[in-house]
Amino acid sequence: MSKWQELEHKYFMNTVERIPLTLVRGQGARVWDEDGREYLDFVGGWGVNSQGHCAAVVAEEVAEQAHTLIQASNQFYTIPQVRLAELLIQNSCLEKVFFCNSGAEANEGAVKLARRYGKLRLNGAYEVITTMNSFHGRTLAMVAATGQSKFQKPYAPLPVGFLNVEYNNVDAIKSATTSQTCAVMLEPVQGEGGVNLPDDNYLASVRAWCDQRGILLILDEIQTGLGRTGTLFAYEQYGVEPDIMTLAKGLASGIPIGAILAKERASVFTPGEHGSTFGGNPLACAAGYATLKFIIDNDIAGNAQKVGQYLVAKLEGLRQKFPFITDVRGRGLLVAMEFSTDIAKSLVMACLEKGLLVNRVKPNAVRLIPPLIISNNEVDEAISILDRALSSID
Ligand SMILES: Cc1ncc(COP(=O)(O)O)c(C=O)c1O
Repeated sequence: MSKWQELEHKYFMNTVERIPLTLVRGQGARVWDEDGREYLDFVGGWGVNSQGHCAAVVAEEVAEQAHTLIQASNQFYTIPQVRLAELLIQNSCLEKVFFCNSGAEANEGAVKLARRYGKLRLNGAYEVITTMNSFHGRTLAMVAATGQSKFQKPYAPLPVGFLNVEYNNVDAIKSATTSQTCAVMLEPVQGEGGVNLPDDNYLASVRAWCDQRGILLILDEIQTGLGRTGTLFAYEQYGVEPDIMTLAKGLASGIPIGAILAKERASVFTPGEHGSTFGGNPLACAAGYATLKFIIDNDIAGNAQKVGQYLVAKLEGLRQKFPFITDVRGRGLLVAMEFSTDIAKSLVMACLEKGLLVNRVKPNAVRLIPPLIISNNEVDEAISILDRALSSID
């Protein structure tokens, strides 16, 4: 264990089972450890580093903004947040935005917005229907929204107003809907839950049900958004438009930021009803603007789709060779490989030893969420390492 890792054990609360690797530098799809060893990074800061590590266009914008204005109270207008808001609205189906600092905070705000809508337009309805195996964040309310008992049990009793129902089952949503329901909240593709894809007409059926009942559809695009699944937003691939959408992760290339976007009719907050000290601060928003502009101008979503297909085809090749790979699935560069037994941890460690970072998303599944700028050559390199790592634990 290195000096830094020993100090971490001494000082930190024990919330994460860390991999014994101290990262000190990143560039593109590669990172380096404290001994100068290089790794191909298919974790990407948990799906954050879409433009690759330290993309020049973002680093320059951040440096310039840091010398200009880092933070101002939201009582005042600041220019970077308005520029980012305009770019987001012009490139999505939503019409209004609120900036915050993380994914959980964006979802928490989205639920507050839906409850406010329920109070004003739905006779005080406040319940939000979410799905099993979802992941919406770590605040107490988002733990209640997240349909996974491992996150919920340690904190019971949980805040009321959330119903977790089966994913990919519109009838389960229909059965759970009552006069108290104000919204349904879904990830278009479940990320942390194991990269679970929606059936072809699931999201459209949920949209139709929400319209029929006059309730809101909140799409949590924190992991799927900003090009990750092969379009700027995943909803574009499923023929639906949300009333509210949340973003975070890849929005500012690693500078903390979150966003709630809403259709005009769902945008019911009035002054003082929601807020944030840091939300929309000039530094994060300058990084966000540079990031989003880069994604749009360079068709990064298109690259994610193209390289994602190549990656899945190559993983299918590995599946032919290793029968214990039971499934390969994904959209764009949000991809998972599942196994017949719980080998994900051993595989992560075998890959690490050979210079590739991958993420264990379930005991029997790994997730691949590399920067969206990767090339087929980098996929080939990753596949060659995976091949050797899989052989070593066969
Ligand atoms: C779909 C989704 N929603 C919400 C979150 C929570 O985001 P954060 O960790 O920024 O609070 C995550 C994080 O993994 C996520 O994948």
